Amino acid sequence: MEAVIAEGVNIYYNDYKAVEGLNFKLKEEETLLLLGPNGAGKTTLLRTLAGFHKNYDGKLLIFGRKPSDGRELISYVPQTHSLNERVPLTAVEIVAMGGLYKKGFIHNNIPKELIKKAEETLKFVGLSKIKNKPFKELSGGQKQRVLLARALVSDPKILLLDEPLSALDPNARVEVTSVLGKIKREKRISMIIATHDINPLTEIGDKVMLLNKRLVAFGTPDEVLRDEIISEVYGPLSKAVKVGGKLYCIIGDVHLQGRGGKR
Ligand SMILES: Nc1ncnc2c1ncn2[C@@H]1O[C@H](COP(=O)(O)OP(=O)(O)OP(=O)(O)O)[C@@H](O)[C@H]1O
Ligand SMILES: [Mg+2]
Repeated sequence: MEAVIAEGVNIYYNDYKAVEGLNFKLKEEETLLLLGPNGAGKTTLLRTLAGFHKNYDGKLLIFGRKPSDGRELISYVPQTHSLNERVPLTAVEIVAMGGLYKKGFIHNNIPKELIKKAEETLKFVGLSKIKNKPFKELSGGQKQRVLLARALVSDPKILLLDEPLSALDPNARVEVTSVLGKIKREKRISMIIATHDINPLTEIGDKVMLLNKRLVAFGTPDEVLRDEIISEVYGPLSKAVKVGGKLYCIIGDVHLQGRGGKR
């Protein structure tokens, strides 16, 4: 079964069309890297796929269901986390909350099985040792891994990640990238990862989408990450280079180029 089918999808904010005429398919277990300049519609698309933004038309199915009917299949990790860090929750409690939200209630007593599941998931992301530390005391990379564990604890079939590497220092990027690779290899769930920083991720991307309000290109990394395609979105100085079989993109300017998108 296809993880995602989009046919003629338009996404709106009131009358403003933020994403236009989108067509693509993503297979089960595939990872899609979602690229595009600021304002291209990446977050809008992810929030629509997650079932949070409902102002769209066209056909959009996640494992055969409308996004708003498939919430237990989907986990979404927003661009910047919205956890209130004044609430003194530990890492394992934050992860367990990912299981509670899915069931539609928030609880003071987290069931024991869920704590156990949360501990296993923290182990999966390499954070067993800090499970009882307050979330607010963790490093940026550790926080992002806790948020990944929180998204995984409900056993989703698709993971939607908005800029999981932004706001991280280089070491933390390596930590989080390696967890994303592990999710792909061992959990085999579909992922859609919006990112400005494609280079660390080209190896885990089965497909790449270049979005600039409309779909500019969609295909394998080799098909999409070519000078003439990326320069259409990122400007004439953008280049794709292959070094030792690994594909890198050099992107000069990530701001919206003159393609008529208003911000
Ligand atoms: N809540 C909103 N109300 C109205 N317009 C919005 C809203 N959120 C986003 N937009 C507009 O929709 C378009 C797409 O925004 P979106 O945040 O999806 O882009 P993005 O690709 O995620 O950008 P970035 O790389 O900066 O995160 C922009 O023109 C933006 O101004
Ligand atoms: Mg965004």
